Amino acid sequence: MPGAKNARSFRVYRWDPDVGGNPRVDTYEVDVAGSTMVLDILLKIKNEIDPTLTLRRSCREGVCGSCAMNIDGENTLACTKGLDELPQGVVSVYPLPHMPVVKDLVSDLTHLYAQYASIKPWVQTKSVPGTRERLQSPEDREKLDGLYECILCACCTTACPSSWWNPDRFLGPMVLLQAYRWIADSRDEATGERLDDLEDPFKLYRCHTIMNCTNTCPKGLNPAKAISEIKQLMINRTV
Ligand code: SF4
Ligand code: SF4
Ligand code: FES
Repeated sequence: MPGAKNARSFRVYRWDPDVGGNPRVDTYEVDVAGSTMVLDILLKIKNEIDPTLTLRRSCREGVCGSCAMNIDGENTLACTKGLDELPQGVVSVYPLPHMPVVKDLVSDLTHLYAQYASIKPWVQTKSVPGTRERLQSPEDREKLDGLYECILCACCTTACPSSWWNPDRFLGPMVLLQAYRWIADSRDEATGERLDDLEDPFKLYRCHTIMNCTNTCPKGLNPAKAISEIKQLMINRTV
């Protein structure tokens, strides 16, 4: 769409495993009239200019986490990143940083999902249930606010220097926020075991409170605070 009245340039990372070699960056001139979000533009490129462009998306409402990518240097969701939030000039779109790439803008999250599974993300109970569901007071339910909203997009972990340097051993902010979500759940009866599992120089203590995670979370959550809550629980049980 070169020459369109509302044309804007988008530089998009490209890498095809079937071709191999070095990645490249393609520049597309796109008519942005009628588009609101960066995802609209990427789909326009795919539908109208270059069908080989590969990206992941589902909900386009900021709830599935699948369109996480790096837009103009910031890890965020393409479906909620407004074009009007971007500075003037060329827009750069890359996959999430420091991750293996499956193709183009699709990162390989296999390792992060395995780390997520390792914290047993479900309510664990030992007591025999009564004749009805396990109840939770409104006050205890409120303790999950700021935690349950996490959509596992990985924007935080892929922005975290400690995760870049120790991806195999540090669990990273996404998984640690989730770990705290289950520790904080009043219905869960495995807090001791969960803390035992995290008591490790790498899994938890590689967080140095750099705060990249909190600064980049597109859902406005605070993984760094969740991590400090876990550290505080560790201290409390040793004094
Ligand atoms: S606060 Fe911790 S988890 Fe968050 S970016 Fe910094 S080192 Fe990573
Ligand atoms: S804490 Fe925020 S950035 Fe991290 S995975 Fe959850 S929603 Fe995404
Ligand atoms: S498409 Fe689901 S969060 Fe963007």
